[in-house]
Amino acid sequence: YDHDLLVVGSANADLVIGVERRPAAGETVLGSDLAVHPGGKGANQAVAAARLGARTALLARVGDDAYGRLLLDSQRAAGVDTAGVLEGGAPTGVALITVDPSGDNSIVVSPGANGHLTPADVRAAAGLVRASRVVSAQLEIPLETVVEVVRSLAPGSRFVLNPSPPRPLPAEVLAACDPLIVNEHEAAVILGEERSGADPEDWARTLLARGPRSVVVTLGAQGALVASAEGVTRVPSVRVDAVDTTGAGDSFTAALAWRLGTGSSLAEAAAYAARVGAVAVTRRGAQESFPTADEVEALTGEEGGVR
Ligand code: RIB
Ligand code: NA
Repeated sequence: YDHDLLVVGSANADLVIGVERRPAAGETVLGSDLAVHPGGKGANQAVAAARLGARTALLARVGDDAYGRLLLDSQRAAGVDTAGVLEGGAPTGVALITVDPSGDNSIVVSPGANGHLTPADVRAAAGLVRASRVVSAQLEIPLETVVEVVRSLAPGSRFVLNPSPPRPLPAEVLAACDPLIVNEHEAAVILGEERSGADPEDWARTLLARGPRSVVVTLGAQGALVASAEGVTRVPSVRVDAVDTTGAGDSFTAALAWRLGTGSSLAEAAAYAARVGAVAVTRRGAQESFPTADEVEALTGEEGGVR
């Protein structure tokens, strides 16, 4: 394999404003100065993996505009192979983000060029897909594009999906996931009526019964659950002071996907990924907050909030 990880997904310009609290409908609030950062769940994953040392490529679409150049620059600076980053079709995707004093964010994404990343683009990049040990995707690109990725995988390669923003998934996609990575909100949407009780272990088992080879349910400060045919295991988080959680989930997914490709077990990979995400939430922004492997190594702190 030429690449440890290929990320197929979105690239957005993140327009970020800090707020004391979010406005209600019809209300106006004043916020901080505007910050513009490279973002998007796909672009974030690629930078996160590359910064950890993974040989990483990105298949994405940006506009022929200044935001597109911002995104390409950040990928290249992180060492990501950008041969698969296509240009044109629509303006670069934009995410409008508010961050509150607790570090929580709210995001509205305008897909722009991400919505023009087509199954034909995936077919044209078939060589890239087949040359990648692990392939990961999210849902800020068309679902039919993700379906084409699943159909293009090399035998023996591994597919990881974070279905965000969530929507019901076809059986063909679910069956390919190893793992499917969801937070509680995403789990609820994927499970629909089948959401069984408030116990995340039940969600993990119910999700697994839908066809993925493995499932990871992320629980924020409570860590994560990993589920496979071997059972359900709890993975602890590391207690840190969060200043900005934007993109932390993307760094978790990227780190986990990369570690799986190096032969780590699902629980080992998730524990490492939790440490990556823990560093990311202690710093502002998404991509600029992602750690190197040395910074992950240096992270100290007690295990946080495990039930
Ligand atoms: O997951 C965080 C990302 O979600 C942001 O960078 C924003 O672009 C949205 O895609
Ligand atoms: Na961050």
